[in-house]
Amino acid sequence: MRIDIITVLPELLKSPFEASILKRAIEKGLVEVHLHNLRDFALGNYNQVDDYQFGGGAGMVLMIEPIDKCISELMKHRDYDEVIYMTPDGTTLNQGMSNHLSLKKNIIILCGHYKGVDQRVRDKFITKEISIGDYVLSGGELAAAVLCDSIIRLLPGVLNDETSALTDTFQDNLLAPPVYTRPSEYKGMKVPDVLLSGNFPKIEQWREEEALKRTEERRPDLLK
Ligand code: ADE
Repeated sequence: MRIDIITVLPELLKSPFEASILKRAIEKGLVEVHLHNLRDFALGNYNQVDDYQFGGGAGMVLMIEPIDKCISELMKHRDYDEVIYMTPDGTTLNQGMSNHLSLKKNIIILCGHYKGVDQRVRDKFITKEISIGDYVLSGGELAAAVLCDSIIRLLPGVLNDETSALTDTFQDNLLAPPVYTRPSEYKGMKVPDVLLSGNFPKIEQWREEEALKRTEERRPDLLK
């Protein structure tokens, strides 16, 4: 998979890909992540990428021309399955969307900034608009990092134990059951006996029951 991220703040997007699972996925060649600084496609001597909005009002708007130049350059070299715009008024990200996107070959992610992008960018280039939740971030970069992490960890070979993404919270629309590790007793707090029993069918049944209980208590909306 190849992910191209277009941003005015590439430095904000470096570190998430330089540690742990995402770093390893890139090193193993399971994903390529390319950051593109929108300023490299800027206009005039002032490296302009944004301007005041027509009709007045506070806040700058990212201009269409640098974005058009950047996306058109990328599209010269390969076809893209999706051109995603990170925005708080997009569709709220969920596990199903990440599963779906993890099957794509090439995607572009455009990070919004200031008051957003010229609407004509959204009309002409964008195939999906994604929000990571009902709150407003300073820009789309951190949201893009969240989206990339949720996709990349699903790619075959990225996680050590291939099954572990399948037992994540939200796969099957259930929250994950509680987990424990050593010691089996700490300051009087005990691990449930069933997990120490070695009876794997019983353990599996306990986990299913606990997952359902937790989902009913915390996220009944997932069961509808
Ligand atoms: N940009 C600003 N806020 C955002 C959010 N909640 N999701 C995605 N992109 C954003």
